Amino acid sequence: MNNPIALVVGARPNFMKAAPIAYLLKKENIPFVLIHTGQHYDRNMSDAFFKDLKINKIDYSLGVGSGTHSEQTGKIMMKLEPLFNKIYPSVVLVFGDVNSTVATALVTSKMLIPLAHIESGLRSFDRTMPEEINRIVTDALSDLLFIHSEDAKENLTREGINKKKIYFVGNIMIDSLILNLKKAEKIRAYEKFGLSPKKYCLLTLHRPSNVDNEKSLTNIFYALEYIKEKIPVIFPVHPRTKKMLSEFYFEKKFKWIEGDGKYIPISPLGYLNFLSLESNAKCVITDSGGIQEETTYLHIPCFTIRENTERPITLKIGTNILCGNSPDKIIREFDKLLEGTGKKGKIPPLWDGKTASRIISILKKGRYISEKSIS
Ligand code: UD1
Ligand code: UDP
Repeated sequence: MNNPIALVVGARPNFMKAAPIAYLLKKENIPFVLIHTGQHYDRNMSDAFFKDLKINKIDYSLGVGSGTHSEQTGKIMMKLEPLFNKIYPSVVLVFGDVNSTVATALVTSKMLIPLAHIESGLRSFDRTMPEEINRIVTDALSDLLFIHSEDAKENLTREGINKKKIYFVGNIMIDSLILNLKKAEKIRAYEKFGLSPKKYCLLTLHRPSNVDNEKSLTNIFYALEYIKEKIPVIFPVHPRTKKMLSEFYFEKKFKWIEGDGKYIPISPLGYLNFLSLESNAKCVITDSGGIQEETTYLHIPCFTIRENTERPITLKIGTNILCGNSPDKIIREFDKLLEGTGKKGKIPPLWDGKTASRIISILKKGRYISEKSIS
């Protein structure tokens, strides 16, 4: 089998998951193609990552852009099918839980091409989250399910997935983090914003349940009003959130645009600058999935503005605390941290920087990469 492996990415959290695999495939001269659906397209939501993560090639850009869930998923499917007919990959690798992931899974499995899902088995048990639908469908269609925590195996077997298809390989995001942490440390991104290590809070928000709803967003900002009086809050603003903050007149309501050194709203950051801010923060407030895991690895306290998480290991043994979007709970946890009684965490098993190499070994063993194609 000399056909290439296909890696399909589309949105910000895909890029740092694909990079360690692309890096190793290149190193071992294993033929692969990188396909970018174009779900995220702003420079600071896409190209900046390719530069930071040293992914030197995108072989095919589908350029689908934004749209409703169905529009976006449908457009990706329509563009992928003819491409797969042309290159007929030996196996297709998809990452995480975004629309690009599920769209690729549907096309791949209908064309009877083997499908591998990296970051499989996560469940929030909340089907109002679009990502939960994407996870369930992608896992149901996958031939190889690569998981990074034991709870994922339980979720998959409960859904009737054969244990033989499930591989506990560790956390691919942490491969990228480990590969880039030293570089990020040298950047000292906090200095550019007049901040000192361990003396600021890093905030990210983009879940529709938080940012598309004025009441939820107001609740979160009530808590931030308290926090910003204790330490500055730096806030790389996701494009969805930027749109909603402007629609709800939050700049005026909470005076965060003028920048009094307390709220520091900035554009989304590239990977290295963000990692630099994240690893030096006093705490992180977020509704991101990946950031819950990165903060656990970095031992940085993380207050997650959600009612549930598909990443329970970060609660069980990591530094993550679920706060919903009630200002009281957020403030209570923040105060505990200032008093020095905050949560301490440990690093989960196999979050060790070797996940990409485990995945590639399994692909070789399963003959998804033939010995012939490795020069
Ligand atoms: C998507 C993923 C979400 C992931 C997040 C990471 C789905 C269903 N959602 O959410 O799981 O956590 O990415 O960041 O796949 N926009 C821009 N420029 C861009 C990209 C988006 O302006 O480069 C704006 C557009 O107005 C767009 C909106 O952001 O409509 C939302 O983008 P979309 O990709 O649909 O969802 P995200 O909220 O980014
Ligand atoms: N991230 C980044 N710049 C930012 C915000 C996040 O580089 O301004 C990185 C972060 O370090 C993590 C990933 O993006 O690696 C998480 O993506 P996101 O929060 O967009 O998506 P989710 O994980 O919620 O799906």
